[in-house]
Amino acid sequence: MKSRFTRIKEKIVDISVSDKQSIRDVLRKIDKGALGVALLMDSKTGIFKGLVTDGDVRRALIKGMDLDSPVSDIERPKTITASVTASSEEISRLFGEAVRVIPLLDGGRRVTDLAFFDTRVYLPVSEPNLGEKELKYVSECVLTGWVSSAGKYVTQFEQMFAEFCGTRYGISSSSGTTALHLALLSLGIGPGDEVIVPSFTFISTANAVVFTGATPVFVDSDIQTWNISAHEIEKAVTVRTKAIIPVHIYGHPADMAPILDIADRYNLAVVEDAAEAHGALYKGKKTGSLGDMGIFSFYGNKTITTGEGGMLVTDNKELADKARILRDHGMDPENRYHHSVLGYNYRMTNIQAALGVAQMERIDQIVQQKCTNAVFYNDALGEIPGITLPPQAEWAKNIYWLYSILIDEKSFGMSAGRLAAMLKIKSIETRPLFLPVHQQPIYDTKQHLPVCEYLSSSGLSLPSSVNIDINEIGRIAWEIKNIRKKN
Ligand SMILES: Cc1ncc(COP(=O)(O)O)c(C=O)c1O
Repeated sequence: MKSRFTRIKEKIVDISVSDKQSIRDVLRKIDKGALGVALLMDSKTGIFKGLVTDGDVRRALIKGMDLDSPVSDIERPKTITASVTASSEEISRLFGEAVRVIPLLDGGRRVTDLAFFDTRVYLPVSEPNLGEKELKYVSECVLTGWVSSAGKYVTQFEQMFAEFCGTRYGISSSSGTTALHLALLSLGIGPGDEVIVPSFTFISTANAVVFTGATPVFVDSDIQTWNISAHEIEKAVTVRTKAIIPVHIYGHPADMAPILDIADRYNLAVVEDAAEAHGALYKGKKTGSLGDMGIFSFYGNKTITTGEGGMLVTDNKELADKARILRDHGMDPENRYHHSVLGYNYRMTNIQAALGVAQMERIDQIVQQKCTNAVFYNDALGEIPGITLPPQAEWAKNIYWLYSILIDEKSFGMSAGRLAAMLKIKSIETRPLFLPVHQQPIYDTKQHLPVCEYLSSSGLSLPSSVNIDINEIGRIAWEIKNIRKKN
């Protein structure tokens, strides 16, 4: 567990008072340290006796003590301390709503360091989790000169990712969008064809269809999973329909069995858009491995990242071969610089793949941490009236790419937009849920798709990076409760 508390040893002298000093002295120290607390020490031994907070002083003055009264007369609750040898994880667990400063003591109970949890720290919705390995592998690319798409990391990343998904082939690409485009092109989709997509998705699901010359057909979501509704898909099938792109939105799998059944009955291809669902499971199988092809994104806000990047996975050798050729200018793999089809340069670089390999070495840990953080969130937000927690079907493993909730304006007392604005003031970033694609200015189909319109207007994604911990989730939940109460 990564922690965001800071050690501020240098503040110890600024905020220390002896038990012989007065309330006036304590107030001066509290003022100087700007932490809202002073450290009370035994005047003879220097042993730590406890924290005095500005609240303790205020209550003492209200009770009738004056500024010259000795500080030792102030009533104080028991102070939470930790050993200076405690791990960051142990210290992190001690912070709470009212505990922001923890004195770290040596064996002789002297304060040797201070742990400070700064509630003003900005919490972004997403943030990559990069470490030493990423730096090492990328440096190696730079130092050896293997910076373009030739290089060992590209193949290694493709193999690792395909294995992770349980598929035979992995074809890396420059983005999730280009992976989608390649998938549709490999399936032969083009002008005159229709492809069924959810309206509740990121724009590129639809754009990739348009890139091929085909037409995206927008379908509403299922309120249980927020994903494309199989019932609505069946109503949208026409003689022109060639494929369905179910999207596993925010990391929760779409209900694939009825979708695959429709695809089977109408002879349609299925491309899973798993851009947001690395490691999510549908009935025990990895998302991306259930349709004819699956695609992933490694943009910087995704569960694992290569900066920009994408991957196409499939068990079908013919489709994999086609995608590789299209990705590389349509070049004949047996005959260099001979081009028999119109291709693209959609390749991933060795530098991107180096990041990807480092991220793959701990993808299970990253996914696990996202799920653990979702449990913390569910515990902290579950009882608040007006909040609907993210979907979790019993047949699915949601990986909570973005931990997203719905706000019922009536029972919560304000709209999702208003809550977002108030959290922003508290340095907590949120993100509205996707504006349905059928309502986007470039598509604007004038359809009325009630479920996805409702999701979009009432949903909010909260900070979801694996870099946040239980204390920060506690802080976010506390602010949400407070905002609701004060409203
Ligand atoms: C559902 C969905 N599909 C496709 C993409 C496209 O991926 P990229 O941004 O890597 O092109 C994204 C994300 O960004 C996405 O969220």
